[in-house]
Amino acid sequence: MPKTFQVLILNTISKRGLARLPASYVVGSDVVQPDAILVRSANLREMDIPASVLAIGRAGAGTNNIPVKKLSERGVPVFNAPGANANAVKELVIAGMLMGARNLIPAIRFVETLTGSDEEMHKATEAGKKAFAGSELPGRTLGVIGLGAIGSLVADAAIKLGMNVIGFDPAITVEAAWRLPARVKKANSVEEVVKAADFITLHVPLLDATRNLINAERIAMMQPGTVLLNFAREGIVDNAAALAGLQSGQLHAYLNDFPANALQRQPGVVCLPHLGASTGEAEENCAVMVAEQVTDYLENGNILNA
Ligand code: MLT
Repeated sequence: MPKTFQVLILNTISKRGLARLPASYVVGSDVVQPDAILVRSANLREMDIPASVLAIGRAGAGTNNIPVKKLSERGVPVFNAPGANANAVKELVIAGMLMGARNLIPAIRFVETLTGSDEEMHKATEAGKKAFAGSELPGRTLGVIGLGAIGSLVADAAIKLGMNVIGFDPAITVEAAWRLPARVKKANSVEEVVKAADFITLHVPLLDATRNLINAERIAMMQPGTVLLNFAREGIVDNAAALAGLQSGQLHAYLNDFPANALQRQPGVVCLPHLGASTGEAEENCAVMVAEQVTDYLENGNILNA
């Protein structure tokens, strides 16, 4: 007789992932006594997690929205999906680098203000073409801070685009080190990366040690005109310091995957509603990975990636 478990679904979890749960399970957003919860980015408080819950699946890499420590005291494993959305994030980082290098942010804003006759539009086009001339990626240096699944994929893509890559990760695993392209120069500190790079991309979790990792002091060490990209977590960049860096010209552009009131209308800034992992493909990959892990735990007690 197949076992029956109840699985509470919070947020939208891809149908392909839900289809990996055994047909005998009761699955839905209105399950009352759940044995497991599948969640994307909704914030879960410990008090909201019923005592019946045996496991939680987070359809993404980070687990900041889940009280992991408290749950482990209760013996509840939290499964995540490292690497399952890495390609989606990588593609947006490359798009962000190009937006910065080709001055697409001010150029788009400039065109949005244009009105007038064909002749006036033509004149404005000529002026814009000159004002927003950019630069190309080959030969320029990308600094990658955090060389896990996403950081190493970004490093690989940048090398394929002809860039030099320097990377740092204080906690790199042996497996991740093996995955890294040989041409990545391994730095010994964050400082070494920020001094050397024309573009800096962050791929670390938000921890006490990484909060405000990019601060005024480190922005001052950067090359004038650096493009900074944060597609990791809010809080890793000190946004006030980034704004000062943009105003002084130390930063040329700041691509930030989070809304930020003080920043989002500033020249050189793009703020996004955390779109890094938002592709249909990534959502499916994450949902499939966590649905399989949660099922394996409920059925067999296996813990592969908690
Ligand atoms: C992640 O941690 O992988 C992302 O935050 C996923 C998401 O956008 O939900």
